[in-house]
Amino acid sequence: MVSAHTDSVKKEAKAGFELSVYLAERQPLVEAALDRSIPVIYPEKIYESMRYSLLAGGKRLRPILCLASCELAGGTVEMALPTACALEMIHTMSLIHDDLPAMDNDDYRRGKLTNHKVYGEDIAILAGDGLLAYSFEHVAAETKGVPADRVLRVIALLGRAVGAAGLVGGQVVDLDSEGKSDISIETLSYIHTHKTGALLEACVVSGGILAGASSEELQKMSRYAQNIGLAFQIIDDILDITATAEQLGKTAGKDLQAQKATYPSIWGLEESSRQARQLVESAKAELACFGEKAQPLQALADFITNRKH
Ligand code: IPE
Ligand code: IPE
Ligand code: MG
Ligand code: MG
Ligand code: MG
Repeated sequence: MVSAHTDSVKKEAKAGFELSVYLAERQPLVEAALDRSIPVIYPEKIYESMRYSLLAGGKRLRPILCLASCELAGGTVEMALPTACALEMIHTMSLIHDDLPAMDNDDYRRGKLTNHKVYGEDIAILAGDGLLAYSFEHVAAETKGVPADRVLRVIALLGRAVGAAGLVGGQVVDLDSEGKSDISIETLSYIHTHKTGALLEACVVSGGILAGASSEELQKMSRYAQNIGLAFQIIDDILDITATAEQLGKTAGKDLQAQKATYPSIWGLEESSRQARQLVESAKAELACFGEKAQPLQALADFITNRKH
């Protein structure tokens, strides 16, 4: 099944790249792999809570980036699928915890009630913990056909991306900055590159590592990902102001209400969106040397600024 998908995606690349066709194949592929990854056993409540948020239907951008970068560096979808799923588990953990009353206190996520609204705060915290721990087990136990040293590098990379040097550090400074009117550009950039950029970078770089990319290739992928990571959070901040709750699947206007440090709050909407577009152009340019093979990652970069949710 996986290779049939891959074949038609390759054919399409020759005929001219259509992101909507590409996503229509990759999203269900990821969805099915996530569904298989966590069965419900005793104690059912925790597995149900983990599955509730994991299978609530996000864009699946992170796993799709990981698969695309693995293919760009000459690897296969099969080599990267466990890591791709693990990245979505880590991301989902970060969303469940981000929505808790102690953090952003949100009631809706991915068009549904947030995890703690359905299962309670205690189970929501544990569901995040369960997803995080399982993500590492999943990479270690399920990655096939990849030399063990590459898998080990990926596990270390994921740990760093999600820990205090990455996502957790970014979330801490995000919370610390709430309600302050004198946040510097440097602090804002730290928040964005850590809370969002670090995991997106790990998605792209881990795909490259699994495929055995050279260090120069990994550097290019990493710079591509840093640019799209920052652009992604700038657009998230813009959409919080300009999109509706229906479009977002989460409550709109929360950042202003919580007095969050965001790009639009410092630069305004127009300048923020100009910066996001510029970051996406720089990201695409980093991959120019890969030629046509870079089309999926370049189109995914455009998707980040064009998206409406
Ligand atoms: C939302 O991420 C949280 C941020 C890092 C801004 P996404 O916009 O990728 O959310 P889903 O996965 O599609 O729900
Ligand atoms: C998301 O930041 C960062 C993480 C979840 C790690 P936000 O707090 O802006 O994300 P949303 O807007 O709630 O999705
Ligand atoms: Mg937050
Ligand atoms: Mg939030
Ligand atoms: Mg946001």
